[in-house]
Amino acid sequence: MEKKREKKTENKSEKSTINWYPGHMTRALRSMKKDISLVDLVIELTDARAVCSSMNPDIDRLCQGKGRLVLINKSDLADEHINSLWKKHFTDQGTTCLIVNSKKGVKLKEIDEAARLCCRSIIERNRRRGIAERPLRAMVAGIPNVGKSTLINRYAGRNIARAANKPGVTRGNQWITCGKHLELLDTPGILWPKFTDSSTGYALSAIGSIDDHVVERADLAEWLYSFLTASYPGRCANVYGTDESSPFHEALKAVAKSRGAVQGGGEADLDRALSIFVEDFRNGRLGRISLERPEAAIGSAGTDGGVS
Ligand code: G4P
Repeated sequence: MEKKREKKTENKSEKSTINWYPGHMTRALRSMKKDISLVDLVIELTDARAVCSSMNPDIDRLCQGKGRLVLINKSDLADEHINSLWKKHFTDQGTTCLIVNSKKGVKLKEIDEAARLCCRSIIERNRRRGIAERPLRAMVAGIPNVGKSTLINRYAGRNIARAANKPGVTRGNQWITCGKHLELLDTPGILWPKFTDSSTGYALSAIGSIDDHVVERADLAEWLYSFLTASYPGRCANVYGTDESSPFHEALKAVAKSRGAVQGGGEADLDRALSIFVEDFRNGRLGRISLERPEAAIGSAGTDGGVS
């Protein structure tokens, strides 16, 4: 097992292409294109830990000519300072953006106000024409697992959107009335067909937006470990007691030891350690971490090619 893992580390630079775009997403995108004429704005959710990779360029194209509100969700799991850099980045581009935590403490009034700001020209035009103000219609869009259902459920005050932590779970578009200000159109999570940048694939896998079978867990864990030791030195050492200068397979043994992941003969259960490590990142047990920063990430997502 260990030998195999060491070999894998040596071969890591070899390129492999991964087919990960499920067919039902083409249908979902088609249906969103049909429905876009019904809405005033698009509310796009992104994952604060990987803002660039979690923005689908197809949604970008879909939004043309519509109001657009970007919600940087799961802010509680990402680096607070980098969250504010992202907010500045979008504001500088003229895009309305809010940092949110849909699970706890999302300020719905703030979202209402931001949606009205995005649609101020429609509101003013209707007012000039003497048309009575109606709720704004918004399409809620985003790749799988960014928190669309959680936000909608919070808005509706009940479990109305089908929340599921499985990337790519199919669901149809449905309208949800939320108070008197907004009507939300729930849409399925859509990914885009291909990307060249390997870090985009790893980032999407790390945040749980693509199926776990798409990127090998050992590769993902190793990528995550090198990112963490370089960008957040001391985190792994604090949580697992690893020596961060040692190679990944040694660190994995420390993860196994610290979490009691041992096999019958007392040997470290490295497969379990891989899962523990990835899940610890996903659940925020390694602290607040941002995989991408505005100055480094822009331009890397949404290009054609395979995951290397
Ligand atoms: P989706 O519709 O975009 O696919 O995402 P969904 O709402 O199903 O959310 C995916 C997971 O992300 C859920 O976890 C949800 O609770 C979690 N989540 C959503 N927003 C936030 C947030 O702002 N912060 C944090 N920390 N987590 C968030 P789950 O494990 O599937 O569900 P649950 O066990 O939490 O209920």
